[in-house]
Amino acid sequence: MTTALITGATAGIGAAFARRLAADGHNLVLVARDEKRLREQATELHDRHRVEAEVLRADLSEEKGIEAVEARLSDRKNPVDLLVNNAGFGNKGRYLEVSMADELTMLKVHCEAVLRLTSAAAAGMRERRRGGVVNVASVAAFVPRGTYGASKAWVVQFTQGAARDLAGSGVRLMALCPGFVRTEFHQRAGMGTENVPGWMWLDADKLVDAALKDLARGKSLSIPDPRYKALTGLMKLAPRRAVSRASATTGRRYGPN
Ligand SMILES: NC(=O)c1ccc[n+]([C@@H]2O[C@H](COP(=O)([O-])OP(=O)(O)OC[C@H]3O[C@@H](n4cnc5c(N)ncnc54)[C@H](OP(=O)(O)O)[C@@H]3O)[C@@H](O)[C@H]2O)c1
Repeated sequence: MTTALITGATAGIGAAFARRLAADGHNLVLVARDEKRLREQATELHDRHRVEAEVLRADLSEEKGIEAVEARLSDRKNPVDLLVNNAGFGNKGRYLEVSMADELTMLKVHCEAVLRLTSAAAAGMRERRRGGVVNVASVAAFVPRGTYGASKAWVVQFTQGAARDLAGSGVRLMALCPGFVRTEFHQRAGMGTENVPGWMWLDADKLVDAALKDLARGKSLSIPDPRYKALTGLMKLAPRRAVSRASATTGRRYGPN
């Protein structure tokens, strides 16, 4: 039986990964900050799917939280076969409206934790010559807008580069770029979503199905929806200045506020 470790497992996309991987018979290590919620989720998944579900409370914006998850991923006696770096959040406000402390916390969770956990997992996976890492980025990675988009662009570049370096080693790495997904994300950030058109919303369970198919196919970048594939394709072709202008006008009118 294989084991998957999911960060940010208690809500939204992470919870959808946990449900799907448990249904497929994987044992789980569930990581987030809310221990009560983690325990309830572990019990439910164990009872429903008869898999082992370990709880690891960790705050990935803190050194000791990252260290605890690194230690679990480096445990050669209880190997992790699939790592899903999913924990993340948004900050409400434009550049200079968000405090420096919040900007730095985002970089710690979205970039430093992803770098360190991917590396802790991939080292053992390379020795065993098998394993997978899914790093949850965003289609925001392709738009020049704030620390959120910049941090997700880093996730995409880092993951695709590491995937290339580990090609042929048996370790697969994939950056996952969702569009808008109905989760707790926007509410937690205090963002209103009434301006986001209905057709732009994705379902977390369908997103995870598509992502796991892309991982099995060996893709290093997954944009699991034709609407967003078309949009990101256009963004790549259009001049950078036009994308930036469209993001600042249309993106702000029809995006979360
Ligand atoms: N929803 C979208 O529209 C969307 C679109 C593109 C990309 N994404 C990305 O998808 C990922 C998941 O987001 P979501 O939409 O599923 O959000 P969500 O519903 O708010 O869930 C976020 C999860 O991350 C955990 N988390 C947050 N901060 C953490 C920290 N410091 N340490 C450990 N765990 C932490 C939360 O649990 P605790 O609070 O218990 O720690 C929760 O389980 C994020 O990386 C996000 O950037 C989301």
